[in-house]
Amino acid sequence: MLRKRSLALFALIIPAAMVLAADKPPEKPKAPEKPASGKPAKVDFVTQIKPLFDANCAKCHGVRPTKAYSMLTKAKAFTPGESDEPPIVPGKADQSLIVSLMKAKDPEGRMPQKKPAMKPAEIALIERWINEGAEWPEKVQLTPPPEDKE
Ligand code: HEC
Repeated sequence: MLRKRSLALFALIIPAAMVLAADKPPEKPKAPEKPASGKPAKVDFVTQIKPLFDANCAKCHGVRPTKAYSMLTKAKAFTPGESDEPPIVPGKADQSLIVSLMKAKDPEGRMPQKKPAMKPAEIALIERWINEGAEWPEKVQLTPPPEDKE
């Protein structure tokens, strides 16, 4: 009786353990933060930020950027443009030029140019991404939506 029950338990535990093991890429070190503790997960560049940059900025700062500034790749986006002010300062959204330009009250100086201002929630997400370190995978380039390609 006892034996039978522990066998049944094993039959449950082993497949569960296998599923858990298969889920985890072995080479990835454990992340320091614990999303399980109720803290929201870190903002993800590719799925959350890139779509906002693609839709709002890539037309003028992507493959064929204005000479003022390019945000095609991480290296370019982090390099000061014409004004020489740091566009993205990891950890410091309040010192990042892209944030102050997105929040600008004057439509003339605001980014995206010639478009309605971005939603406060979208800007807040970008600020959170910058404050969390502004991670941007090296090989990921902005891609403007098809309707923006001339
Ligand atoms: C319709 C074209 C257009 C769009 C869309 C656009 N920009 Fe710009 N942006 C410009 C032009 C043109 C300049 C050159 C300076 C100016 O006119 O202010 C500029 C300048 C900038 C600068 C200043 C660079 C410097 O150091 O002088 C930053 C930063 C910037 N844009 C960020 C953004 C961000 C972030 C977005 C998306 C949220 C965006 N832009 C969308 C056209 C655009």
